[in-house]
Amino acid sequence: MQYMKLLVFNASPRKSNGTTDVLLETFIEGARLSGADVEKYHIVDLDINGCRGCFNCWWVTPGKCVQKDDMEKILPAIADADVMLFGTPIYGRNVTHYLQKLLERTFVFTLPEMVNHDGETRHPGRIRRFPRMVLAATCGFPDTSNFDIVRALYPMALPIFLPAAQLLFYERGKKQLSDFLNAVKLAGEKIAAGEELTKELKDKLIVEFSDEMKREIVEMHNRLSASRTQN
Ligand SMILES: Cc1cc2nc3c(=O)[nH]c(=O)nc-3n(C[C@H](O)[C@H](O)[C@H](O)COP(=O)(O)O)c2cc1C
Repeated sequence: MQYMKLLVFNASPRKSNGTTDVLLETFIEGARLSGADVEKYHIVDLDINGCRGCFNCWWVTPGKCVQKDDMEKILPAIADADVMLFGTPIYGRNVTHYLQKLLERTFVFTLPEMVNHDGETRHPGRIRRFPRMVLAATCGFPDTSNFDIVRALYPMALPIFLPAAQLLFYERGKKQLSDFLNAVKLAGEKIAAGEELTKELKDKLIVEFSDEMKREIVEMHNRLSASRTQN
């Protein structure tokens, strides 16, 4: 039997010590229950340059980037994956530049022609198909509005959003997020099994705090911040 290939990238410089990785590992745990074949990278450990905009991958060496770095192994892995799971903290209301660099370099997968696709002009893909995309993002403020830009940038991705992700560092917070974490694991299991997610499950993948909870989170943060600030 052929198992689904799940390719995972963590775009947090805090790697396994951060909150984003908790979401990634929870999703992976679920995906493994469905037998997924998992390959995972922390992007900061990879040598990846941004795109130089030379267009050689269109006109000179079609489908191949002229740069010699770790994208030489990552690009074939992307072309081979069924699902790509990206994890990113929100930095300045956006994804981190680590993820941006990697995504820019997938430009090699586009053909130079322009075509109309559902009323919008696009470049057709050069590969069999781009993997299904799941985007897990964490942020520090308790409001989901911090994910608005990312949601607009990647409308094709299944969103998993956790605001005030620092709650994961506390036992009580983890308990409060147990429904969400169970949903992330179940999403991993279902996606690895090639199943569609119900609206109910999708809704659980985006945490919305009540106003009361937001106030509590802000107070907790400000107390901690005051106790840590030196001078
Ligand atoms: C440079 C920087 C910019 C940030 N910008 C935002 C922001 O715009 N909105 C927000 O809610 N949190 C912001 N944060 C908080 C992080 O998104 C949050 O701490 C996240 O959980 C970190 O993920 P990690 O633990 O996986 O590294 C920022 C943090 C840093 C270091």
